[in-house]
Amino acid sequence: MEFRLLFHETLAQSVEHLTFNERVDGSSPSSLKFFIHFDISRLGCFKLTVLLDFLFEKPLPVQWLKSSQKEGCGMEMQIGLTKESRQAVGEGLMQLLADTYALYLKTQSFHWNVKGIYFYPLHLLFETHYEEMAPALDEIAERIRALGLPVEASFSFFKAKTTIKEDLPTDALEMVKQLIEGHESVIRGARRLAMLAERENDPATVDLLGRRLGTHEKMVWFLRNHLEP
Ligand SMILES: [Fe+2]
Repeated sequence: MEFRLLFHETLAQSVEHLTFNERVDGSSPSSLKFFIHFDISRLGCFKLTVLLDFLFEKPLPVQWLKSSQKEGCGMEMQIGLTKESRQAVGEGLMQLLADTYALYLKTQSFHWNVKGIYFYPLHLLFETHYEEMAPALDEIAERIRALGLPVEASFSFFKAKTTIKEDLPTDALEMVKQLIEGHESVIRGARRLAMLAERENDPATVDLLGRRLGTHEKMVWFLRNHLEP
């Protein structure tokens, strides 16, 4: 049975925007109908999503999340930013998230694989850098959510989106150079986005980006010093 049929038969007007077109194998339509019939009047859209997620014990596809997380269940955000502004800034933050994630993974890979006479200082430095990026990922993603947008978080999405190149050089200083390039790519993107967020009157995002810029610029400084004579 398709979700579309089930919801149209059982749900109230308040959730009629829900459209589920995918078949769920192994589900029990009767128990689902029973469950939703009793609980839907008390649940917001987001909780409904979580509920369904729990019910089927597997992640819901992104398109379900989008359709079920209709903004505020019909209650528009009123934070002084237009939907277009939030969309534009949010998309820029998704780019930053993808680049930061890719750079995080690359730095951690180099931390594990670096060798040679620079092994120990670079092993430690790379660890410091990826540990710094981990909480930043969360902060960037949560800023996207605060702007009312979903966060697309999958390896396939990040890989398609990121400007960071996948590579595993054997030479330690080549690793340093690649990380400098990666950080500088993040910096250029964050700087462009900060200018956009400024124009869109979004100081919270500008603040986040200012901190990210300063941190990545400092990491570049540390890395570049390894290339000095
Ligand atoms: Fe480690």
